[in-house]
Amino acid sequence: MKPIRYERKIYTPGPTPIERLSRLSKELGGPTISIKRDDLLGLTAGGNKTRKLEYLVADAIRQGADTLITCGAVQSNHCRLTLAAAVREGLRCQLVLSAPETGDYNPQASGNHLLFHLLGAEKIEVVSADKDLLAEMDVLAESLRKAGRKPYLIPVGGSNEVGSLGYMACAEEIEQQAWESCTPYDYVVTATGSGGTQAGLIAGFAARQSGTKVIGVNVSRDRAAQEAKVLELLQRTAAWVGLEGQIQPEWVQCEDRFVGPGYAIPTEEMVEAVQLVARTEGILLDPVYTGKAMAGLIGLVREGRFGRDDHVLFLHTGGSPALYTVPELFLPKV
Ligand SMILES: Cc1ncc(COP(=O)(O)O)c(C=O)c1O
Repeated sequence: MKPIRYERKIYTPGPTPIERLSRLSKELGGPTISIKRDDLLGLTAGGNKTRKLEYLVADAIRQGADTLITCGAVQSNHCRLTLAAAVREGLRCQLVLSAPETGDYNPQASGNHLLFHLLGAEKIEVVSADKDLLAEMDVLAESLRKAGRKPYLIPVGGSNEVGSLGYMACAEEIEQQAWESCTPYDYVVTATGSGGTQAGLIAGFAARQSGTKVIGVNVSRDRAAQEAKVLELLQRTAAWVGLEGQIQPEWVQCEDRFVGPGYAIPTEEMVEAVQLVARTEGILLDPVYTGKAMAGLIGLVREGRFGRDDHVLFLHTGGSPALYTVPELFLPKV
């Protein structure tokens, strides 16, 4: 890999911890499972987008931007963290939110949506689910440019080659922690959505010539579509950092059997996974991403995908504010 010159902000003081999930591993009777606590990353309430934003926001500031514009779902963790980074840097932030496909937009919604208001988004535009979010962001950007301002657009999930650097750096961090604790990881299991987390991890492990495999558990889309999406970003990222020709398409592995009826639609397996991790390890997952990813990990363990001697690292990508938007899933029925 050629050394690349890039700017980076630091939003977390050091590496996130890796913790052994002994009780969960015992309960499942499978491989040794550990967890990488990226839910403890810096900025408001943490989560995987903090790593991507260290590079994206540095790039925005280098380009002289005064406003970040991004987009996502009504409960987008990425929008919350982009806004938090803007607050930290004294920038303004505008959000384009895609209304839920089923049901109405609730302007009183809690969770991340509440935090968009608390953190002081300059503008929140809610558009119907069929709208092209990039085009909507362009409209906001154009009107800011006309007013003499300098917007910087961040795509859904912060997933482009700049954002992927955050998860290349995470792979490097995992390798370092594996070395220090004499615990090489056979697999990393992560939720995969806009794809930057998975693409960055694979590129980062490739750069280190590590044998760690990455399994993405889809939160939307079918397997072929998600693998194509991740591979396309992985190849762009690899080309950018001088790893072209060193990526094998079969390194991109996604599991679509745990999505259920669709994005953010709860499943029984997700509820079981969130409860099991809370009750065995005292760790909170979320209903949209990490709950389904953990349901995937549990499902794969139960069907014998891993050997008993394998060491599996679950990446906790954050998202806990959404937990409080669905109390009915976890409270006793009355
Ligand atoms: C909590 C959480 N986990 C996982 C993901 C998926 O990461 P990526 O979009 O990089 O695939 C997201 C994306 O929004 C997220 O908010």
